[in-house]
Amino acid sequence: MNNFPKLAMARFSKRISDQFSHQKLIPMHNTNPQPFTQGELEQTIGCSFDSILQNVNLGFTPDAGTLALRQTLMDCHYENISIEDVVTHAGAQEALFCAFYALLKENDKVLAVAPIFEPLVQIPLNIGCEVSYVHLQAENNWALDLGEVEENFKLGCRLFVINFPHNPTGATLTENDLLKIVALCKKYDVWLLSDEVFRGLEHSVDYRLPAVADIYDKGISVGVISKAFAIPGIRVGWLVCKNQQFIDEVIDIKGYISICNSQIDELLASVILKKHEQLTARNLAIILQNKTLLAGLNNLLNQKVEIVVPNVGCCLFAQVKAKMDANSLLEKVATQSQYLLYPSNLFKTDLEALRIGFGNHQFSEFFKKVKGES
Ligand SMILES: Cc1ncc(COP(=O)(O)O)c(C=O)c1O
Repeated sequence: MNNFPKLAMARFSKRISDQFSHQKLIPMHNTNPQPFTQGELEQTIGCSFDSILQNVNLGFTPDAGTLALRQTLMDCHYENISIEDVVTHAGAQEALFCAFYALLKENDKVLAVAPIFEPLVQIPLNIGCEVSYVHLQAENNWALDLGEVEENFKLGCRLFVINFPHNPTGATLTENDLLKIVALCKKYDVWLLSDEVFRGLEHSVDYRLPAVADIYDKGISVGVISKAFAIPGIRVGWLVCKNQQFIDEVIDIKGYISICNSQIDELLASVILKKHEQLTARNLAIILQNKTLLAGLNNLLNQKVEIVVPNVGCCLFAQVKAKMDANSLLEKVATQSQYLLYPSNLFKTDLEALRIGFGNHQFSEFFKKVKGES
């Protein structure tokens, strides 16, 4: 197993929250839909927490997670895996940490897609990997350039990290492009880590991509209950991969972190995640309602922004086209309207942009307050 080098996580997002902590801002940067309340969730899934938790086992859960939760994931969320391929975690965050430490060592080459959710590259950087980026371009509707991916693979690459539906841009791939990526990974013998935490939030099923663990032996799919399913208060994530040596390493590393999830969380998740269609239908109703406003989002407090309206997920990356940079506009929105957005420097990009979430009940109020005349 890898040694753990000392963590030097930048944690920019915490710094942003700290910077504005005295101002009691309303978060409008979130990538998850409006979290369920217990009552709403019970109604959506058609049973109560009390009935699910009767006789819950209060011993430790097995190393890889409970059979019940892994069975639900195998049956309802993937097409072509077995139960041994699934490990449950304390969130997607722990799954990512374990996956990177299981796969990577110092000087390994990692390719990532920028802009990017910071931990997807910060953990490899902490391990001492050499990270290169392919950049999504707004002018090109945030499309991924597969030619550039192959050029990078030719230079040697151990792992390609993707995240579609994408945080922060709201971009996605076509299924054909995903299949081409898998073919390139096979050709150049590259592992493919696919952060699929927003899978299920496609605005139409036509945009749904296959899970990479279903279609590639060196594909790792990462999921979580907090994002597509909008239940961040149950701390359950997972990873899926057909390579058993990798899975054994992941379980070994998990043993140094959470050891195992809470039985209560896993039992709840094992029942709730069977009803994924009802959960995502509720989430998409909120998202699609808010989406009707997006075409008009061309400025924030009269400062020009440009957006690409997403077809998946509930976040977008508004490019700042005003005479001020993203951080100054962030401060202006915070001070004048009391909303917190996330600036582009959290996402390993030189673009001047702000991440805005549109999956919550407060979005239309936010839109009214920040939308100027232009
Ligand atoms: C792309 C992506 N992956 C993983 C995570 C981690 O999810 P969680 O905090 O629920 O573990 C996040 C959280 O924002 C995310 O945006």
